[in-house]
Amino acid sequence: MIRSVLRMGDPRLLRVAQPVTAFGTPELDALLADMRDTMAHLEGAGLAAPQIGVDLRVVIFGGGTSPRYPDAAEVPDTVLINPELLALGDEEEDGWEGCLSVPGLRGWVPRWKRLRYVGYDEHGKRLTRDAEDFHARVVQHECDHLDGILYPMRVQDMTRFGFVEELFGDNPPPAE
Ligand code: NI
Repeated sequence: MIRSVLRMGDPRLLRVAQPVTAFGTPELDALLADMRDTMAHLEGAGLAAPQIGVDLRVVIFGGGTSPRYPDAAEVPDTVLINPELLALGDEEEDGWEGCLSVPGLRGWVPRWKRLRYVGYDEHGKRLTRDAEDFHARVVQHECDHLDGILYPMRVQDMTRFGFVEELFGDNPPPAE
């Protein structure tokens, strides 16, 4: 079922979400189905459970087939639960981000260039993967939602935060 996505200003986006304690349950399956439907409908590159008002540490992301995300083709379709992120090296990279909870805008955000993420899939199986570039950016963006952080809070140069049409015209860069 397609769910409505909360927008910045809703206090539910600012919570530190709760860990998932039971895997393979009908409730978790239903949540993930709704998240997939919602992300596909909105052509997002990722979605976090708090964005549909669910206070759990669950994110999904992936390349899908959206032509809006040519860089996202290399991002594997992933369910990531109770994630932990570890920077690999100290290199950071700036890039444009958007967010389904901040519609119509983009901001220039520094992120770790490479990282390792660890967590669980929907069956409770341990997942460990290394990522870089756009893949790493999407993971950091989505996992930030689990700690109540929206990307505008990470924009350092506010002259590079604005409406898509004003910043880029008809040719916006890929972003969540
Ligand atoms: Ni977002």
